[in-house]
Amino acid sequence: MNQMKTLSDCFTLSNGVKIPCIGFGTFKTPNGEVCVQSVKDALRCGYRHIDTASAYGNEASVGQAIRESGVPREELFVTSKLFNPDQGYESTLEAFEISMKLLGLDYLDLYLIHWPISQPCHADDWREQNAATWKAFEKLYREGRIRAIGLSNFIEHHIQNILDCCEIPPMVDQLEIHPGYSQAGTVKFCRQHNILPESWGPLCQGKAFGHPVLEEMAGKYGCSVSQLCVRWCLQQGVLPLPKSVHADRIQQNAQAFGFEITGEDMEAIANIQGIGRCGRHPDSIDDMLKLFGPSPWQNWNQERQDLLKTI
Ligand SMILES: NC(=O)c1ccc[n+]([C@@H]2O[C@H](COP(=O)([O-])OP(=O)(O)OC[C@H]3O[C@@H](n4cnc5c(N)ncnc54)[C@H](OP(=O)(O)O)[C@@H]3O)[C@@H](O)[C@H]2O)c1
Repeated sequence: MNQMKTLSDCFTLSNGVKIPCIGFGTFKTPNGEVCVQSVKDALRCGYRHIDTASAYGNEASVGQAIRESGVPREELFVTSKLFNPDQGYESTLEAFEISMKLLGLDYLDLYLIHWPISQPCHADDWREQNAATWKAFEKLYREGRIRAIGLSNFIEHHIQNILDCCEIPPMVDQLEIHPGYSQAGTVKFCRQHNILPESWGPLCQGKAFGHPVLEEMAGKYGCSVSQLCVRWCLQQGVLPLPKSVHADRIQQNAQAFGFEITGEDMEAIANIQGIGRCGRHPDSIDDMLKLFGPSPWQNWNQERQDLLKTI
């Protein structure tokens, strides 16, 4: 884990594919100039791994930035995600094609199921629904359209369901992981099954800044709080995806090399108080409704079609 020394160092997935050790996040980065600029800034300072999702609505700008950056496609690692309204076999295949058109790419490096179909919302068929989506992922993988396939926000029972039905096991699980919310049980489960855990929200979605323990520890290591958070992920073999739209922060967040956090401090960071889970629990129907309202998906297809008209 500690051998990561530069942004172009890689983890190796269970299928042998190399994945650059820090990814650049794009959640809440609006489609358009801000997204194009921030992705270009990231590529300019050495990131080679970009994380987007259909749900972010910014695949078109990510694709534009990639083309305009001049970085050869084969040097890049691009991830996108399938959103819940597109779950299911046929709809996954269709949604993938739309993502590829928006990104302007002919293959994807990593495709993730963004959230599991959750148990409380779909008590009768959550297993079948997630499994049908996975079957489509396997087809796209076999056809060479995607270099690696994985999950996001899947915890033990969701992962086990996929393991029980799959022919190709998932290679990645992207989870909320950060100081004060280490998801140790799910991370251990992933390791046991050769699944690389990625950290979304590695900077606690901004809540890390100003936290007294993290600020003090950053002082001790002579680094910034964001570098401490990113380093904390790397040292435990978790791949961090810090996001910023500011060039100076983008650069700073990636400079998480050249120092080592002690075992004792790793533990202390994992257990800091005051910052817990920032996002919703994958099986929490209450959180789901709070975030999206009772009919969250009614305009989804239209929104995707409208985006296609902009490229
Ligand atoms: N799979 C999922 O369900 C899921 C969920 C959430 C996120 N993600 C992925 O993971 C990525 C990272 O997560 P995230 O974006 O939620 O949170 P994050 O990276 O933990 O934090 C981003 C926040 O921190 C601020 N920030 C970044 N660097 C900073 C610095 N050096 N100093 C001060 N503030 C700084 C950013 O503001 P500015 O942009 O203004 O700098 C932004 O408000 C996402 O972008 C996305 O790609 C995945």
